[in-house]
Amino acid sequence: MDRLRVIGGIPLQGEITISGAKNAALPIMAASLLSEGEVILSRVPYLADITTMAHLLMHCGLDLSMPSATPGSFGYSLSLKPSGKAITDAPYDLVRKMRASILVLGPLVTKYGRATVSMPGGCAIGTRPIDLHLKGLERLGATVTLEGGDVQVTAPKGLHGADVTFPFITVTGTANLMMAATLAKGTTRIINAAKEPEVVDLAKFLNAMGAKISGVGTETMTIEGVSMLGGCTHAIIPDRIETGTYIAAAGITNGDLELIGADLDMLSVVKGELIDAGMLFEATSRGVRVCRADKNKPLRSINIKTEPYPGFPTDLQAQIMTLMTVAQGTSTVTETIFENRFMHVAELLRMGANVQIHGSSAVVTGVERLKGAPVMATDLRASASLVIAGLAAEGETIINRIYHLDRGYEMMETKLNNCGASIERIV
Ligand code: EPZ
Repeated sequence: MDRLRVIGGIPLQGEITISGAKNAALPIMAASLLSEGEVILSRVPYLADITTMAHLLMHCGLDLSMPSATPGSFGYSLSLKPSGKAITDAPYDLVRKMRASILVLGPLVTKYGRATVSMPGGCAIGTRPIDLHLKGLERLGATVTLEGGDVQVTAPKGLHGADVTFPFITVTGTANLMMAATLAKGTTRIINAAKEPEVVDLAKFLNAMGAKISGVGTETMTIEGVSMLGGCTHAIIPDRIETGTYIAAAGITNGDLELIGADLDMLSVVKGELIDAGMLFEATSRGVRVCRADKNKPLRSINIKTEPYPGFPTDLQAQIMTLMTVAQGTSTVTETIFENRFMHVAELLRMGANVQIHGSSAVVTGVERLKGAPVMATDLRASASLVIAGLAAEGETIINRIYHLDRGYEMMETKLNNCGASIERIV
């Protein structure tokens, strides 16, 4: 099982190209099931999750090809087009690898009137139910039954428009309902819709295919059903979570990075908090430069609380907590989205961090320096936080189970080693 060996203490210097956003590419690839024509996506990141989604879409009857794969470059173009056959079931051996497989549910039901998707299991960060997805589809006229671990959703007469109110924000729940509503008869309003940039990018893609979606990025999204959707070309937005991860890496190593293609407008709350912590951001012609405002001083502690967009993203909680383990003073980190997203804390303690958990909050007291140690990755963003810790720690850190990392970070060790890091993948 692959591991990473990280030698710490080297300030990162140089440039990192930001890849396309995993959490935009996944729903957009699933939405390609709705198209009667060819879809061409660019800036698709090389990630294990993208490969899993590609296998699932081929299973469902799409032909996929990479018209311009230039290995070694970051990201690639992907062509997806209907093959004429349609399979409307997503089997367990594919779904268990990636929860986001549930994103084929809305497209399959609205296009073919039926779908069988294996219930996604929970994961390290929580049980992650899909009840809101299913209740929303029922509001659009689908019949939902659970059979042997599979969700069977049928709508033999097609779906109809309706008002769907989410009691709280769900990102993929909003995505599933948006996609289902594009071919429903009549108008659907999603009230309390997710406003994440990845959801906005999905809506832009669906509208490019001929959907009629308005109010995206606001409280209420309106989708007028149409009879069919065609092909289009679309460039995936840059990954804001990858961007935030490398900002943390620059801060913790007291380095100086230019993040090419980064769009900090999608991270305004994070940027504000990190400026308070002592980070400096400078727009460049290619993206953004990031470093500490004063290289001779440690960062200052801050208090963060994860919230749906535009609040502080839960997917950056572990990475910014790690940054705070070597800041001056005491920070508090409150996780409000998932019930178990402090799995990285036990590993950070092994590296000498001072973190105390009190329910959904963690109190982080800065220490002079972390110390390298063997640690275990537990989930995607926790893995990234351990790489960040290893980059700053004294000595060597071995990170086990880094298959988690490969799910969501394109060529991470290459990007960091190009900036002076010493990271080696060992078996
Ligand atoms: C998306 O997951 C992202 N994944 C997650 O990123 C991200 O952490 C999360 O949104 C929150 O921003 C993708 O986009 C592929 P939710 P999602 O539905 O949609 C509860 C990463 O690291 N809930 O917004 O599954 C749920 O348990 C991943 O890239 C229900 O109770 O998250 C959670 O507590 C991790 N019932 C909260 O809502 C439902 O039907 C928010 O979940 C749906 C969700």
